[in-house]
This record gives sequence, structure tokens and C-alpha cells, in this order.
Amino acid sequence: MCGIVGYIGPRDATPIILQGLKRLEYRGYDSAGVAVLQNGHIEVRRDAGKLSRLTKLVEEKPLSGHIGIGHTRWATHGEPNARNAHPHIGMTGEVVVVHNGIVENFLELREELAAEGAEFHSDTDTETIVHLVERLMGAQQGLEQAAMQTFHRLKGHQSVVLLSSREPDKIVAARLGNAGGVVIGFGEDEMFVASDLPAILEHTREVVFLENGEMAIVTREGVRLQTLDGAPIERAPQTVPWDPVAAEKGEYRHFMQKEIHEQVRSLTDTIAGRVDFEAGRVYLPQLNLTPELARRIKRIVITACGTAYHAGLVGKYLIEHIARLPVEVDVASELRYRDPIIDEDTVLLAISQSGETADTLAAMAEGRTRGATLWAVVNVIGSQAMRVADGYISMQTGPEIGVASTKAYTAPLVDLYMLAILLADLRGILDEQERRRLVAALRLVPDLAGQALEREPEVEAAARSLLETKHCLYLGRGINMPTAYEGALKLKEISYIHAEGYPAGEMKHGPIALIDRDMPVVVIATQDRWYEKMLSQIEQVKSRGGPVVAVATEGDEMIASLADHVLWVPETPWMLSPVVNVIPLQMLAYHIAALLGLDVDQPRNLAKSVTVE
Ligand code: AGP
Repeated sequence: MCGIVGYIGPRDATPIILQGLKRLEYRGYDSAGVAVLQNGHIEVRRDAGKLSRLTKLVEEKPLSGHIGIGHTRWATHGEPNARNAHPHIGMTGEVVVVHNGIVENFLELREELAAEGAEFHSDTDTETIVHLVERLMGAQQGLEQAAMQTFHRLKGHQSVVLLSSREPDKIVAARLGNAGGVVIGFGEDEMFVASDLPAILEHTREVVFLENGEMAIVTREGVRLQTLDGAPIERAPQTVPWDPVAAEKGEYRHFMQKEIHEQVRSLTDTIAGRVDFEAGRVYLPQLNLTPELARRIKRIVITACGTAYHAGLVGKYLIEHIARLPVEVDVASELRYRDPIIDEDTVLLAISQSGETADTLAAMAEGRTRGATLWAVVNVIGSQAMRVADGYISMQTGPEIGVASTKAYTAPLVDLYMLAILLADLRGILDEQERRRLVAALRLVPDLAGQALEREPEVEAAARSLLETKHCLYLGRGINMPTAYEGALKLKEISYIHAEGYPAGEMKHGPIALIDRDMPVVVIATQDRWYEKMLSQIEQVKSRGGPVVAVATEGDEMIASLADHVLWVPETPWMLSPVVNVIPLQMLAYHIAALLGLDVDQPRNLAKSVTVE
């Protein structure tokens, strides 16, 4: 999770920026840097590693001035090292930029710029931004115009903040999509820019948030907001609460809603530094997976609880389909009581956001006793599950505060997809073309998730229609059967409405007896190999008077004619569809619970990490 801090005003920018970055460092990063306009020139200090190294660098080579920007980076393109750390400065030394997210079309931009003589000094996608702005300013465009035209060229979800020594009285910022926010803070004759409120809360509580597709021109006197086409935007500053917890929610009412919307960023970050899109390869170094081990493994037993268990069910489909390895998935609280068949040719793969769930840790201990290799997919760095495992994959979503897990469900789905590719590759059963195809699909995921998130208003409307319901059935098939389970868990744990996820094919073996007008059915019916069967499922429910809420592929007129509410999602490669299809179900549960006025972030009887058996 990258962090951005900017300052313009009468004080020295350097300590303000460094302190702001420090307030964001819990989000996780692997390098940091700061740029300040000093005596008319842009000075940059940046390094891999923690902020303490950057602070030392600044002590050794001080820089000071009244305008500057800083950044903590989680590598997406290019190794986490000094040359790839932000801020990035161009060839003229007159423009400097920091950036969150991914420039999806950076390769074509890089080729275009290099053909015109641009010299690149990093492996990052970010550097294309500064060269684009420089090229336009070279053509006598002002900073605002050059930035605006540059923003129009960038594909994907990002936040961009930049400044130029040629126009030393302003900072330009933009929010392009959902790769995290941009907040502008109002001070006394000074202004602040940040990716997250905690970075500037000690200086001001008067802020405005940028929306998707907006840019800000920040001077000491204030800020001018406009669309990317230059149309002015009027937005009064809002006063945020002092309470850092409340401030951390930023523009959202609850952490759960914020974390649902953070999924473009968390999916970007869980892919970050692990995929070489040019080579079509995946790297999971912390797993310690050798070709020998990959070939020796006879089966994988995935074990987890709750939402993590549902992620494991999707993992079974992915690993068996791609790597042709037998996988079984077991609820952690059951595994150790069934005398499981686990030996030294078994991998026991635990999935746990907290890495501290007692049942999951106990299952890992059972696996260890029986000689298995232990792997863990975890979110909390340094957690017990991570420490006892022989190898791990970190979800890299940043802290998940809401008890109902959202971004820590979608990130492991992508991690398991990458694991399946790596296993297949090392076991020699994946030809290069298929490997490249599977890897290329990863690049789409953050944007597809962003498209699903943009449908929130329609999901909220569907939520309003379900406020009176007492029961709800969720049906899914194939790789989206676990999506039905997860959607039902989301609803029941935060709205206290009874909800049950079921394999759609099982309806005729019992649950169909439940269907009447008081039993709404949520159906995952996106266009995949199971689509036709899901259509008939919907017709069976409708013919018995059951209301239907369908998750469907955008433009599907057939579903639109059948369902009472449609939760649209973009067309998605089927193996990654559980990542996107669950998002409307997360939002559906959230809005029902929020509209019922319930404690969404801390539902009754639940804990974020169940450390007791
Ligand atoms: C999911 O929304 C719940 N909070 C719960 O089921 C959770 O997934 C489960 O307790 C496992 O937690 P873990 O991922 O931290 O091990």
C-alpha cells in the first residue's frame, strides 16, 4: 500500500513530509523518498528499505524548501530499490512525480517516449508519467495543461501528485480510478496533499477528497478542483473528526466499506513485485518452492476457517485445473479430528488473514506432526501462521480492520491463482503460451474489480429491497459455488439475517422446498461454462414465486428479463471471476447492514481474529 504526502507553505516541507510518511508506514512499503524545491532546483532523496534509511539519508544530505512531495512505495513494476523508489524526476530535472496504482499501458507509453529520445532510469511504470509531462511542457504547455493531457493518456487506476521547478507555486494532484484516494488539507497560509488522512491530521481537519476523474491545483492560498477536461468543481471543505480511527475511514462510513473499495489497491499490491508480465512469469520467493518439491508433492490439503475457507475452496478449482495436483479443502476445526491422511508428500496450506486463528494453527500443528510441508497464505506479517510455516505468501492488502473480511478474501484468490501457475510451471505441465495467457489475465484484475465497485449505487438499491427479509439463499456453481458461500457469510455475519450458500445443483435435492415469495435467492449467473444451468435455476426459483437477485455479466439481457435485481459485473476470465463476482455480494451485505443501522465493523458476538478454539 503506497503512501503520498505533499506540502506547500511557509514552513520547511521536508520534516512535514517525512512525518506524514511515518504516519502511513504501517500500510507496508519497501522503499521511500522525498523531493523538495530548494533554491529553484528539485532535490530528491530516496532509498530502498524503511523510512529510517531515508531519514538518515536526509540527515547526511539535507534538503529544505517550501514545497515538496514524498512517497512510500510497495513495488508493482521493478524491484524495490533506490532507482525504482519514488519520487521520479525527468530528464530536464524540472518535473517530479509520485504515484499510487498501475499505469496499465506503460509499455506502449515507454516505447513511444523512448522513440522520441526519453532516457529511462528506472523499471517503473511511474517514470512514464514524468516524461510525458516534461514532453508537453517542452512544447510550451503550462504544468496544469501538461498534467491534464498526461492524465488522459494513462490507463488503469492511479493517484498522481507532481510539481515543477518552472511553476514553483503549485502542486498538481489527480485521482484516476480507484487505486486509493487523494485528500487535500487546508492550513493557515499552507496546504497539504496526501493519499490518506492520518498523514496530515496533525496539521488540519479541513479537507476535501478527490473523486475518480478529478484533479487539483494546490497553492499556498488554497485549491482549485476540476475535471480532467478542465471543468471547475465546487466542493466545500469538510471537517473530519480528530479521532484517528474515524479519520482512517476517510470518506467512508465504515472500515468495511473502505476496505471493499480498497480492493483495486489491494489486488494491485498482492500482484505487486510477483509478476513479470513481459516474461509471463510468476515469482513467490517467500514460499521456498523448489522444482524438486514441486515435483515431489502428491497432494495439497488446504485448511482454514470462515472466509478463508471459502478462498480455499476456490483454490482447489484453480490448483487442480492449472497444476493437475489433487487438492482437498478442510475446515480447520475439523481437520485434526478426522485422523487425516497427511504425510511428507503432502503440503498443508493454511489460509488466514490474521495468522493467529487457533483452529488454523492447530491444524498446522497436526500437519507438522504428520510430516507435511507447511505453507501459509497470510495477511499479518510476523503472525504465528507465518512463523511456523516452511513458506508463505503474504496477501499484501494492508491492515483489514472490519471484522467481516473483504479484501483479505479477494487477495488470496489471486495468490492461489499465482501459486497454481507456479506449481504447474515447476511441474513442467504448463506450456509457455498457456503460461503467458494465464499470467496476462492478472493484469486485468484490479481494473475489473474497479468496474464492479462502480456499480455500488445499483447494489444499494437492491439492498433496500431486502431489508425486510428474514432468510436468503445464495446459489453458485463450479468455481463460483464458493462465491455463494462467501456471499451468504457476509450477509449473515453483519446483518444477522439467516443466509445459506448452496451448490446450485443441490437445490432440487431439498432447498427448493424453501422457495416462496419470502425467500429471496441470490444467484451467481455470470457467463461461464455453468451459465445455462444457472439460467434454468433462476427459472425454477421464479416459477415458485421466489425473488431473484442475480450477479450477471454486463449486458446480459436474458438475466435482466428474469431477475428482480441484477448486480452487474464486467466480463472476467472464468478462473478469476470469483474475485470480481464477490464484490457486489460484499456491497450487498454491507448496505443491508448499514441501512439496518447495525454495527457493521464490529458485529455482535464476532471477533476479528478467533484465537480460541
Ligand atoms: C469472515 O468475514 C470472518 N471474519 C471469519 O469467518 C474469518 O474469515 C475467520 O475467522 C478466519 O479468520 P482468519 O482469516 O484470520 O484466520
